[in-house]
Amino acid sequence: MSRVKAAVFASGAGSNFQAMLDESDLACEIVLLICDRPGAAVIERARKHQIPVYQFDPKQYATKEAYERELVTVLKKARVEWIFLAGYMRIVGSYLLHAYQGKIVNIHPSLLPDFPGKDAITQAFAAKVDKTGVTIHFIDEGIDTGPIIAQQTVDMYPDDTIRSLTKRIQQVEHKLYPKIIKQLVQNEGEL
Ligand code: GAR
Repeated sequence: MSRVKAAVFASGAGSNFQAMLDESDLACEIVLLICDRPGAAVIERARKHQIPVYQFDPKQYATKEAYERELVTVLKKARVEWIFLAGYMRIVGSYLLHAYQGKIVNIHPSLLPDFPGKDAITQAFAAKVDKTGVTIHFIDEGIDTGPIIAQQTVDMYPDDTIRSLTKRIQQVEHKLYPKIIKQLVQNEGEL
């Protein structure tokens, strides 16, 4: 039986994408990488694993709906059922959300609702909190506001730098995201 097909959306380095590829038991097959930043390092990771890449430049389209219509065509053609955002630094619009209702998941490097948006790790560091963490959630039309699926706390130490804190948060992300993906896919969206 063929496995459920998933696409990953990413804009940057792609360490979470890599963690999914390195997981031998993800319960789904990543059949497509969608990247909105031509030249992003994540593209090379996909190429090394022979995963098709769909690159697009949002600036070339008049509206968000215009590029999302194209993305949905590409996703449906590849029979994608799940979308995992992994460092995709763009708000998903209503067209894509409705096409994949309840099937788009994001990872965010803070304990939401604290520190949504960009630079969550820097925000937590500047706030001198003693705990931050990682959140995995379904997305909705807000910025990092959808229903929470899982959270894991990461301690912040007095001698932490943004770099050391980022490293510790990403170590948690790389374990937690593949684990939650597997559970979601196996349970068809229920945990
Ligand atoms: C990850 O830490 C992810 O949580 C964060 O971007 C990083 C991407 O790293 N996402 C957000 O901030 C979303 N608001 P990666 O490209 O190495 O996976």
